Amino acid sequence: MRTLRWEGVSKYWPAPGGEGVPAVLDVDLAVNAGEFVALIGPSGCGKTTLLEIAAGLESPTSGCVTLDGKAIDGPGPDRTLVFQEHHLFPWLRVRSNVAFGLRFAGLSRSDRKKRVDGLLSAVGLAGVADKLPPQLSGGMRQRVALARALAVGPEVLLLDEPFAALDFQTRILMQRYLLAVWQRFGTTMVFVTHQVDEALLLADRVALVSAGPGRLLEEIAIDLPRPRDPADPRFLKLRAQLTSHLEREVMAAADEGMGELLLPAEESEHGIEAHERVF
Ligand SMILES: Nc1ncnc2c1ncn2[C@@H]1O[C@H](COP(=O)(O)OP(=O)(O)O)[C@@H](O)[C@H]1O
Ligand SMILES: [Mg+2]
Repeated sequence: MRTLRWEGVSKYWPAPGGEGVPAVLDVDLAVNAGEFVALIGPSGCGKTTLLEIAAGLESPTSGCVTLDGKAIDGPGPDRTLVFQEHHLFPWLRVRSNVAFGLRFAGLSRSDRKKRVDGLLSAVGLAGVADKLPPQLSGGMRQRVALARALAVGPEVLLLDEPFAALDFQTRILMQRYLLAVWQRFGTTMVFVTHQVDEALLLADRVALVSAGPGRLLEEIAIDLPRPRDPADPRFLKLRAQLTSHLEREVMAAADEGMGELLLPAEESEHGIEAHERVF
């Protein structure tokens, strides 16, 4: 069983002179091999932090993330991250960007080419293999990033709001490509998004994270056949349920951030000083 599992994960970011600021608290979440899980929660609730820990880029303050029961203690080719920003090398052709992670994979030149060509056609980019990233649209660049992340043959793909910067139509197209890639390669997916519809269109299961510091509030199984129909009454019911839960957390996060601003000076913890600082 190749399961990615957050086990009692808490992360405190260092703060000057203090014990640290909690970003996530006691998160337990298991993602089974080949499963597609969406993480949703208000901005700043710790979603990126959870992915960074799974990627091995950050270590938890307590708890651990395991893959196949083995604790993750650094980055590895079994897990790759796709960000909102694509981070492609603008001076390298599309095919070289995709092949970048294969430099040390011990493949022959022709095997490398075969793998890169296969990935580029899987994401609909066979025709632009010799172009440079600045010559592509935003959606195409993000597909190059997806192909590059898949090139090393990861077991787990960690996607951090990968389509957030794209327009609505491109986003719909990207969701289709992502589902096609997932169905073809069987990669385990952890997908962070702000959008309820996106989570419901893609995932087997949606995990809702609370307003920061993030705790896992609930997991909702999306037991609907794909491709999913947003007009399906079952889809609409899940959307209403998830939207109201997410809205509650977004408001909690907003109240937290605005509390000091909304309080009259004499009731504020720091009195008039707080107002002077804010304004
Ligand atoms: N490298 C860091 N150093 C200090 N604080 C951080 C760092 N990264 C994130 N944070 C803080 O941790 C909290 C969670 O951030 P993040 O994981 O980026 O949330 P999300 O992805 O859900 O928006 C936020 O309060 C953020 O300011
Ligand atoms: Mg984030």
